[in-house]
Amino acid sequence: MIYIKSAQQIEKIRKSGRLASQALDLVAENLKPGVTTGYIDKLVHDYITGNGGIPATLGYKGSRGTIPFPASCCVSINEVVVHGIPDRRQIRDGDLVSVDVTAILEGFYGDTARTFLVGEAPDVARRLTAATEESLRLAIAEVRNGARLGDIGHAIQSHVEPRGFSVVRYFVGHGVGLHFHEEPAVPHYGKKGKGPRLQSGMVFTIEPMINEGVYGIKILDDGWTAVTADGKLSAQFEHTMAVTADGADILTLS
Ligand code: MF3
Ligand code: CO
Ligand code: CO
Repeated sequence: MIYIKSAQQIEKIRKSGRLASQALDLVAENLKPGVTTGYIDKLVHDYITGNGGIPATLGYKGSRGTIPFPASCCVSINEVVVHGIPDRRQIRDGDLVSVDVTAILEGFYGDTARTFLVGEAPDVARRLTAATEESLRLAIAEVRNGARLGDIGHAIQSHVEPRGFSVVRYFVGHGVGLHFHEEPAVPHYGKKGKGPRLQSGMVFTIEPMINEGVYGIKILDDGWTAVTADGKLSAQFEHTMAVTADGADILTLS
């Protein structure tokens, strides 16, 4: 079942989305060589709880029978696609670092991620990150009442594949707001004009994970960390948005 959110509910999701996005602004200011991913996690944790929120990932059980996620954000470096677990690892010059934050405020969820390049990153890392961010922007431009779910995936796929990159299939965007993960699933690949119609009041994420090489992934023995099957780079950007009559209302702006 896909929830249609009221204007009041959407304003609550915007508040949690803004908090998550502000946490990413704080991450951006503090990401430098030598900083540990665990320190980034502490910054996010303290920022969200200090503003009356709850980090949704902390203790999150997921659906794959793994240990609960032990941190307040995901930090995914280089070949890590998503769900990197913060620890004592230090960020290095040239790293591609994706950080994903989900905040709960007054019971409502806002979910957003960005990829950062630290220092002198290789040219391919820059091109991958730029293409991924552009693909999210192009996908958001497709969102409006009456559009099709396939329009979103098509916009992403047709932007990144001609550049030699690939779209991760294993993870998808998702409805969000009253719960962390709701229907519908939002694939980042697809055919224009196909799939269910979007309807005003739907709230979901678009969160393309784009790989430098093959689209396949594998999950490490910790049950969470997803890495590219070929060890090449992966980038991700994510916004939470509401469908309106004439476009997307992005709810994760700071
Ligand atoms: N924020 C992620 C998403 O975009 C989910 C992270 S779940 C975690 O759906 F447990 F790995 F943190
Ligand atoms: Co998400
Ligand atoms: Co997320």
